[in-house]
Amino acid sequence: MQTPERSHSVRLAAHDDLAGFKAAVRRLVAQQLPPAAVQWQMAGDGDLFDDAPPPEPAAAPAAPFRLPAEMVALLDHAALHADPGRFALLYRLVWRLLAEPGLRDDPLDADRLLAERMARAVRRDMHKMTAFVRFRPLPGARHMAWFEPEHHTLVATAPFFARRFAQMHWAILTPGRSAHWDGQALAFGPGARREDAPGPDAGEQLWLTYYAHIFNPARLKPAMMQKEMPRRYWKNLPEAQLISPLMHAAAQRSGRMVEDGASDPQHRRPAASIALRLDQRPLETAAPGTLAALRLATAACRACPIGQHATQAVHGEGRPGAALMLVGEQPGDQEDLRGQPFVGPAGQLLERALQQLGWPRDALYLTNAVKHFKYELRGKRRLHKTAGQKEAAACSQWLEHEIGLVRPRAAIALGATAARSLLGHAVAVGEARGRWLRRADGLPVLVTLHPAALLRMDTPDPGAAFAGWLADLRQATPIMATDEDPADRLPQHDRRHGATGPGGLARRAI
Ligand code: URA
Repeated sequence: MQTPERSHSVRLAAHDDLAGFKAAVRRLVAQQLPPAAVQWQMAGDGDLFDDAPPPEPAAAPAAPFRLPAEMVALLDHAALHADPGRFALLYRLVWRLLAEPGLRDDPLDADRLLAERMARAVRRDMHKMTAFVRFRPLPGARHMAWFEPEHHTLVATAPFFARRFAQMHWAILTPGRSAHWDGQALAFGPGARREDAPGPDAGEQLWLTYYAHIFNPARLKPAMMQKEMPRRYWKNLPEAQLISPLMHAAAQRSGRMVEDGASDPQHRRPAASIALRLDQRPLETAAPGTLAALRLATAACRACPIGQHATQAVHGEGRPGAALMLVGEQPGDQEDLRGQPFVGPAGQLLERALQQLGWPRDALYLTNAVKHFKYELRGKRRLHKTAGQKEAAACSQWLEHEIGLVRPRAAIALGATAARSLLGHAVAVGEARGRWLRRADGLPVLVTLHPAALLRMDTPDPGAAFAGWLADLRQATPIMATDEDPADRLPQHDRRHGATGPGGLARRAI
């Protein structure tokens, strides 16, 4: 078959020029230019395309048109992949979607599969950036980090850092781009070299001491560790220099731990000494590399006052790689005493739901937005008090680390506190329940009620309320069985809000 001549050339301003790509797609569709006729170029790559037709002078903008919402989300991520053929692939996908609406329901289509693989790789890359960026202090209370993403993900990931480190002035340098935050606004500049970023400093030495201290040789699983923290990131992680020596010493140290026997358990943790060390360490470098290390760091957290009064921090429960993460509000009285999430009355209701849904508990990761129990004393009773926004914000670093280490395919927000912590903004649970939303890093989040809300609910028909809750939760069942991104596939996505196209499925403008 003869390939049609590429008669039209589009030049994008940069590798991550998503707005330029979408504008070009709108123009090309309006002009009815088939994918085979289009050559995609990048400003600065001109000499690679000597035989390409010269780019067209900027034409008048074309009107937006609508595509299935999940396809627009797919474009948003896949367009940031490093593969130079991505724009051609994605334009072909748009072209075909307009001509063959059934394509949306064909999960085995080769173009779709490739685009989905790209989108997944980009979301993983964004996740890695949120977990492995290490800021170093500069004079003038500024901070700077060097990072080497695999894809063109800096612009898309920078808002996460602006929210997380809103009070700091920081810059993230990468080979392709740099991002700057002055406490008010994000700005982007050209790429940089590794030498442009500062070297190790005294704060880092404290972090290394802390990392070596929390490293548990008896829990060493090198293969799992390298899966969670791939070697390609090690060169920019200060703690990576400790990994080899600590691994080599691990057998010897764990032998000594066995010989020494068990120590007495402590019911209340003497937090002061550890907290002091943590306070001296720059908070933004706190990125434990394993769930065990994270558990210790969380236990020592005194970023808000709740921790002082609780028996212990209640860390999440489950394994790295669990398909689904369920996030509650905060431990209750019984969770606080036992050190495990969801073991009190709300946990029992959740357990009943899990059984009816057929979700094995060990396929899940259960955790809370806030890790310590907040309560007020009434006589001898400790009554649950909802954590304030500041307390939840102080705790959100631990949840983010859990997400980075567990890497679930999706999360379920049980109630408003969890939804706010996961999504970074307030969510009206009554309206949003049963809907898939998406975080900035691409993680799909299903919002629903907290089990305690069902226990408290003043309703003549608690059975119906429970059934409605199960119906919300059931939308996540496909995640347990497949490898797919739920928000890309579930027809319930956005079913109560936003524009809907034929068949009631959500559509978004491109
Ligand atoms: N409520 C929560 O949100 N989490 C628990 O772990 C227990 C009750």
